[in-house]
Amino acid sequence: MSVRISLPEFLALPDAEKVKHVGQRSILFAQQFDRADLDAYCKLADAARALHKTPEGASRMAGLLRHRMALNFFVQPSSRTFMSFNTAQAYLGLNRMSVRDVKISSISKGETLVDSIRTFISYVDLVVMRHDQDDAAATAFWTSLNSHRRITLPNGEERPVPIVSGGSGSKQHPTQALLDVYTIEKSLGGIDGRTIMLVGDLKRGRTVRSLSYLMREYRDVRLLFAAPERYQMLPDITDFLDAHRVSWKKVGSIDEGIREADAIYMTRIQDEWDAKPADGSHAPADDAFTFRLRHLDAMRAHACLLHPLPKRDEIEEAVDYVDDPRVMYWRQERNGMWMRVAILARLFEVHHEILRG
Ligand code: NCD
Repeated sequence: MSVRISLPEFLALPDAEKVKHVGQRSILFAQQFDRADLDAYCKLADAARALHKTPEGASRMAGLLRHRMALNFFVQPSSRTFMSFNTAQAYLGLNRMSVRDVKISSISKGETLVDSIRTFISYVDLVVMRHDQDDAAATAFWTSLNSHRRITLPNGEERPVPIVSGGSGSKQHPTQALLDVYTIEKSLGGIDGRTIMLVGDLKRGRTVRSLSYLMREYRDVRLLFAAPERYQMLPDITDFLDAHRVSWKKVGSIDEGIREADAIYMTRIQDEWDAKPADGSHAPADDAFTFRLRHLDAMRAHACLLHPLPKRDEIEEAVDYVDDPRVMYWRQERNGMWMRVAILARLFEVHHEILRG
């Protein structure tokens, strides 16, 4: 296949244009999903969870992608995203390998990301990747699109090797946003008409950015941005929300928004983007944006408390020891694995086998 658009031209496109190239062939941007996709993913994650409950169902699931090979290319720190993709792949029977350390890969010999991805897709049918550069996942997608390698789906369709972003720079984490939507849906019974408070480092938090994009697809959602001004949501997101008539406002503390919020989504200060202090310490969360035990009393009875994890001091430790069904982040983590089963099943068009039950 000939190169239709050069990499610099592709990367220079606005995301709304890049999304049109991606379609549903890879997963790079939260904006690529519409409401029907989101509802279908949630339904599929539920079906995967149910199917896996019986030994027969689990073994049928493990036969679905036995002939496929995946690479988990995670060169930025990760525990749960890496593990949940690995587990989801194992549940679907995918063979898998990983590259996690640039020091022991040819990247350390000066190989470009484009050449590394070309090499990877010679061997594998799927690349899941986490990278510290904003453009890394888009670069990998372009490389796959413009290589000769194709995978054949069950319906006979040929596709480039799919690229799934497990976090690219500080801008996007689309699969986390899908699992967040799944968790909010399951906790509240729906997202339309809800108020969601996002707390912490909204400026560099790729999870809250991707989740905000998805709110375009729900009716009458209100977003409350609870952050110190230096970590407030960037204008690219607030402009997007304005353009799509999603209501948002800044709030100056957790206390200010807690009585209105149906979901409270905490994030840590993303200080990996700051110069490291000599003593290796981490930036503490501001008091006004720290979720304390007392906040459980102020929280609405049906509301849920979320966090993409890993967490630090932005949630008081005592909250972990309270047996309160509204504390949802550990279940959110587990939901992520089922959502990733759904994502992979749909990418390889075997989801009908899961929905069949
Ligand atoms: C998040 C990430 O990597 O962006 N973690 C995750 O994937 N669950 C959030 C974070 O690191 O703060």
